[in-house]
Amino acid sequence: VVTPVDGRHIALVGFMGAGKTTIGEEVAARLGRAFHDLDAEVERGSGLSAAEYFDELGEEAFRRAEAIALERLLERRGPTVIAVGGGAVETPQVRERLGDAFTVLVEVDLDTAWERSRAGERPLARDETEFRERFERRRPLYDAVADARASDGDGVVLAAARVHVATGAIELLGELVPGEGRIALVADARVDGIHGADAQLALGARLASTHELPVGEAAKTVTACARLWEELALERGETLVALGGGSAIDAAGFVAATYLRGIAWAAVPTTLVGQVDAAIGGKTAIDLPAGKNLVGAFHWPVRTIVDPALLETLPERERRNGLAEVVKTGLLAGEPLWQLPTAEQVRRCAAFKAAVCLRDPYDRGPRTALNLGHTFAHALEAAGSYGEPTHGDAVALGLLAALRLSGLDTTEVEEVLRPGPVRVDRERAWAALRRDKKAAGGRVRLVLLEAPGRPRVGVELPDDEVRAALDALIGP
Ligand SMILES: NC(=O)c1ccc[n+]([C@@H]2O[C@H](COP(=O)([O-])OP(=O)(O)OC[C@H]3O[C@@H](n4cnc5c(N)ncnc54)[C@H](O)[C@@H]3O)[C@@H](O)[C@H]2O)c1
Repeated sequence: VVTPVDGRHIALVGFMGAGKTTIGEEVAARLGRAFHDLDAEVERGSGLSAAEYFDELGEEAFRRAEAIALERLLERRGPTVIAVGGGAVETPQVRERLGDAFTVLVEVDLDTAWERSRAGERPLARDETEFRERFERRRPLYDAVADARASDGDGVVLAAARVHVATGAIELLGELVPGEGRIALVADARVDGIHGADAQLALGARLASTHELPVGEAAKTVTACARLWEELALERGETLVALGGGSAIDAAGFVAATYLRGIAWAAVPTTLVGQVDAAIGGKTAIDLPAGKNLVGAFHWPVRTIVDPALLETLPERERRNGLAEVVKTGLLAGEPLWQLPTAEQVRRCAAFKAAVCLRDPYDRGPRTALNLGHTFAHALEAAGSYGEPTHGDAVALGLLAALRLSGLDTTEVEEVLRPGPVRVDRERAWAALRRDKKAAGGRVRLVLLEAPGRPRVGVELPDDEVRAALDALIGP
């Protein structure tokens, strides 16, 4: 099963002026990887600028030097991010070697490329007619080497995490699920009634069987999984496709992780929580009577297909649950992502989580930051009953507590999420928070913010401060 965490370098190809270097630097920083620029490597090796190299030694010599430099970069342990010079793909050896990397074509239209390139020192951007001919000539070469396409840093991160975000994507499911083999479609029973027919139609001849999971959190049980294990008649090399919210995705993903010791799966999230959070990052889990998510596995989907149009049928209460995660992501990213139109909001948030998870695929470090507000939220949920507070309200309140303890303004979060104080037992909530603390070796380690966009993880505060922050969330 080929997953996004396969240790391969990310290579960016594309025409001059596409922004490969800028995007490459951004992506490398977000993934915690080293960045290399192929042109700069050649320049460093020769002591000549690319323009001088061209003028003094000719294009052919430059291409040879490029191929050698790429060879060296690909041999480095990494994985890294490499911006490959626009013309390197003209060398057959380069095209072949790019097969070892995850290669993303950074797309740009011809006019933009020309406007950006003409002003600079680029040796091949001196004559507009030639520039345009070259663009057309290289197009099929880029197509031949590209594993994916993108036009900005978020796009590259999403491609690297094998997340495809596009309105109407469900109609192309048959092509978007990698491979050509048979597929078993596993759907939340309610979602099946709303979007199941579209998914089945799109899977066409690849669809081998359909299966339903109980609606919502009830999917995440041993019983529901056992039914699926028995119903599935897939062979290794065939694919399970999960359609539904975070619950169905978590359960079906766990079944995929365990059936035949792990088969490929694709996630098609249908809730805002699913699209910006649950379907990204490779965590799958089911619940036990003793608590949520106690049994699970890391098992990255081979592709996550995110169609924001599926959210049109989502009930308001479910949307609010997702909005709390969007606000959390915006606070971590340092940008008011919640102000964006839905489709862009989903794309940006999914990309943010994808980058953090690619950087820390097995949750051993930086991923902790994603818990912003969640320590308090879990305590409030554990002290509540009958689904009150909702997860969204609990996270909204948790974010308030985190902002207050960080000494930051809460106005915007209050305006966007409007969390009211919950009515839960204060002692039960405090006991739940202390249970978390016991599990973490006797200390509550909080995620706070130095400023929006600058999380601080592992913060320990005196008990009375934490308790006061928790109490302030609870109504009389
Ligand atoms: N694996 C992870 O990293 C991760 C991250 C966050 C949350 N989760 C898990 O996700 C679960 C919560 O997921 P959720 O909030 O998506 O809720 P959910 O999957 O329980 O779905 C909520 C409700 O919405 C309905 N629904 C789903 N899509 C719909 C649509 N498009 N139109 C109409 N109705 C629709 C469902 O039938 C259900 O009744 C929790 O179990 C949580 O632990 C996992």
